[in-house]
Amino acid sequence: MGHFLVVGILVIVMAVLTYVGLDAAGLMPVQASAQAVSIDWLWNWQLVAISFLFSLIVVPLIYSLVVFRRKKGETGDGAHIEGNTPLEIGWTIVPLFIVLAFAYMGAYSLGQTRRVDPTAMVVQVKARQFAWTFEYPELGIVSNELHIPVNKQVVLKMESADVIHSFWVPEFRVKQDVVPGRVTEYRITPTLIGDYKVRCAELCGSSHAYMESPVIVDSQSDYDAWISAQAKIAAEAAKTPEGQGKLLTVRNGCIGCHSLDGSKMTGPTWFNLYGSEVPLADGRTVIADDAFITESILQPKAKEVKGFAPTTMPAYPLTDEEIANIIAYLKTLK
Ligand code: CUA
Repeated sequence: MGHFLVVGILVIVMAVLTYVGLDAAGLMPVQASAQAVSIDWLWNWQLVAISFLFSLIVVPLIYSLVVFRRKKGETGDGAHIEGNTPLEIGWTIVPLFIVLAFAYMGAYSLGQTRRVDPTAMVVQVKARQFAWTFEYPELGIVSNELHIPVNKQVVLKMESADVIHSFWVPEFRVKQDVVPGRVTEYRITPTLIGDYKVRCAELCGSSHAYMESPVIVDSQSDYDAWISAQAKIAAEAAKTPEGQGKLLTVRNGCIGCHSLDGSKMTGPTWFNLYGSEVPLADGRTVIADDAFITESILQPKAKEVKGFAPTTMPAYPLTDEEIANIIAYLKTLK
């Protein structure tokens, strides 16, 4: 009986130390949403279970290695032990109840994260290789940044233009796939003002790792200021062809692949692009004029640019006027 008592105490001590160590490791980023509370609560109980089970296995193992080691000169077999019915009943019933308890806790936590506020603000999200676009339908605003006010539930209605992506802001904890051909919902109540990032959490192609966008939780007054500034920018931009072209590139998520400052991304940069000489994959060179840019939007595979072939860009069936506006905008990027 002495061995059981010692092992029992060691298991408890080891479990506590393991839990304290895991807890101190700070495995989770800051908690920034109401939904994160119940998820972190569940996660904490899982750490408790993990610490206990780890100790329950490792402590008796090491204890047996040390204490029941074969002594010098001992050559006989160990004692033959038949089954132990009470032990077997115990190790069936106890885990059963633990699993049932976690099933209940998981369901409770899921219910908490899905709690619907009927007054939630709606933002439409479009995911595509490799950019996020956020549209505020009642306000006529399109942005590549998501701004949301603190302490107010937001429901993102998400659609994909191509493959499966996944909307994930680690500080909010909740994650939701964005699937072509349907609208998926992501409900969040941010509770902490700050700058975060949405990261695509579903392997979606060559630039999956760069499919990130700013997510900014604002105070109500900062949010209102951002909204009115955006509305003003949009109204101003709508007046000129280059302004309309810029809005179109935001709406279509172009900057997910094309930089505006000369840096290299999945697609060629737009900086100083218009009128420049573009080397093609087949060795020829073309001038980036209206005809080349129009063709590259409507049929991206017609001429593949050296260093970017084979192109991953899909065709964008835009109208002549829209393309003319985008070209007007490209001309301003010098
Ligand atoms: Cu989109 Cu990975």
